[in-house]
Amino acid sequence: MKYFEGYRCGSCGREIPAGSAAGECPACAGPLLCVYDTSAIRRRAASRTIASMRSGQGVWRYGDLLPDFARRVTLGEGNTPLLRARRLGDAIGARDLYVKDESSNPTGSFKARGMAVAVSRLLDLGVKKAYVPSAGNAGLALAAYGAAADIPCHVFIPSETPEGVAEECRLYGAEVTVVPGILPDAARALDASVQGDRSGIVSTFREPCRVEGKKTMAFELEEEIEPDWIVFPTGGGTGIVAFWKAYRELEALDILHRPMPRLAAVQAEGCAPLVKAFAEGAERAIPWKDPVTIASGIRVPSSRADALILQALRESGGTAVSVTDGEIMEAVREISLSLGVFPSPEGAAAWAGLKRLVRENTVSPSARIVIVNTAGGARYRFLLGSRKL
Ligand SMILES: Cc1ncc(COP(=O)(O)O)c(C=O)c1O
Ligand SMILES: [Zn+2]
Repeated sequence: MKYFEGYRCGSCGREIPAGSAAGECPACAGPLLCVYDTSAIRRRAASRTIASMRSGQGVWRYGDLLPDFARRVTLGEGNTPLLRARRLGDAIGARDLYVKDESSNPTGSFKARGMAVAVSRLLDLGVKKAYVPSAGNAGLALAAYGAAADIPCHVFIPSETPEGVAEECRLYGAEVTVVPGILPDAARALDASVQGDRSGIVSTFREPCRVEGKKTMAFELEEEIEPDWIVFPTGGGTGIVAFWKAYRELEALDILHRPMPRLAAVQAEGCAPLVKAFAEGAERAIPWKDPVTIASGIRVPSSRADALILQALRESGGTAVSVTDGEIMEAVREISLSLGVFPSPEGAAAWAGLKRLVRENTVSPSARIVIVNTAGGARYRFLLGSRKL
């Protein structure tokens, strides 16, 4: 059955047909979101549970709520462990705390989920080459899924990217350009170098399908524990938008019989445009000047979907909070010691953010809380060194 109907602009609402190669709204350059015929799914799925919709492998287990591309690339992403974090929770009186450990995905991060779907779309469109600017994890994921799909890839990484990323991307056959500076510098270098067909660019919110793959985190969590709060380290914001979109779809399917979980975005104090905008009640975020944090995945000074991210946080009854690099380092140690999971600095930021939110009474410690460890820590060699902050 075909439930995928096409795309809708998340800013101006313009509709774009399913076969279109557009990566962003032709009218306003806003982010495109996939649209499904939820009434048709409702008519078919008599029992109306998430499990009743399952089929396929990797993220494609939730294929009814993903585009129906002819070739569905997968490396077995998703279905990641949900770990009960008793000792970690004890520190803040949280009895019902869990860590969703995304480090077990192919190439070691949650970016795999999004690239599985984005690369499948490129195959569908017959795109000859794929491009992404990346702080590391998205580049690795594109390179690996590009290899699986036999699509040549070109990854642009800033010079601060963790050691070893460029080499591993090259192992998957990708071309790598190292750009002096930070992520926006790499994005500018990519824009300047892609001539002609730009439909292979899979930058954050410049194509519609990475959000779709990331929605599967929400489907898994909902099947597993029906959380009250989801705490997520936020840079470009695909994760937050994906959770919000996934829960809106479950509502439309009559599967969600409670308010959607509250979403908490965690940013670093040295780069917190969304936290500032959220606190000020603003509808848009102002790009952050001189972003600084050891958590390179959330060193993102601006997002193309700032309005959508802020809308997602507010509609879910959620919040946004920032943490220092010192708190992130401390959180890396605490998660490793009490859980046996070596988290990325971004995942550690989620735990540090939750501690703050409980301290300031925004999150009740009696809630059922999930923090997402978006990647493993081993690639970030400085975490194992003697660097003091
Ligand atoms: C490990 C890690 N966590 C979190 C993020 C932020 O991702 P999002 O686009 O969902 O805000 C990234 C992005 O690079 C990342 O690599
Ligand atoms: Zn638009």
